[in-house]
Amino acid sequence: MKLFADTAIISEIEEVSTWGIISGVTTNPSLIAKSGISLVDAINKIVNLIDGPISAEVQEGRAEDMVSEAKIYAKMHKNIVIKIPMTLEGVKAVKQLTTLGIKTNVTLVFSTSQAIMAATAGATYVSPFMGRLDDFTGKEDAGFELVKDIKSVFKTYGYKTQIIAASIRHINHVDQSLKAGADIATIPFKVLQDMVKHPLTDKGLEIFREASKK
Ligand code: E4P
Repeated sequence: MKLFADTAIISEIEEVSTWGIISGVTTNPSLIAKSGISLVDAINKIVNLIDGPISAEVQEGRAEDMVSEAKIYAKMHKNIVIKIPMTLEGVKAVKQLTTLGIKTNVTLVFSTSQAIMAATAGATYVSPFMGRLDDFTGKEDAGFELVKDIKSVFKTYGYKTQIIAASIRHINHVDQSLKAGADIATIPFKVLQDMVKHPLTDKGLEIFREASKK
């Protein structure tokens, strides 16, 4: 499973780019607002930091407007993936962008039927939102079950669309993404940092440090 950074904050992307293990970045309007810069400025900076798929989200609306906006971002760099909201207009836009050879990431996916609509339109990626589905259902494994079901359906019917496990809130969501068979997990900076930590690792290091002194 590939690891993407789910952030538009440039200092965070600069930091993770030094780790050498992050193979893409996802942004959304909320993350762009948090970054304090425009989407275009963010794209221009991120493409120089991470050499992999960078998702840039268009505004929800009519298919033709989304396609026009998508063309602007797609022209900016070869790694740009157009993030399209999961609506009927979005499905139409994905179909048109696929025909034009522009990669898409269908976002706000909460069911297998939505995932199949996106995949049938030719989406390169679908992004099921684990955290938001857990919150909505009150179940800790609702996001896990969704990613698992989409994986199973894509496998059964031979869809090539890749699954990006999104809306990840904690390490358990990363573990669940792995177990469910997600192709990619897009992970906030704080959770990426948490992934290297374990209390027993710290304890073990302490024991070794003491032993080294003797
Ligand atoms: C990524 O593609 C999504 O936009 C992001 O993971 C959503 O996360 P949130 O539910 O924490 O806003």
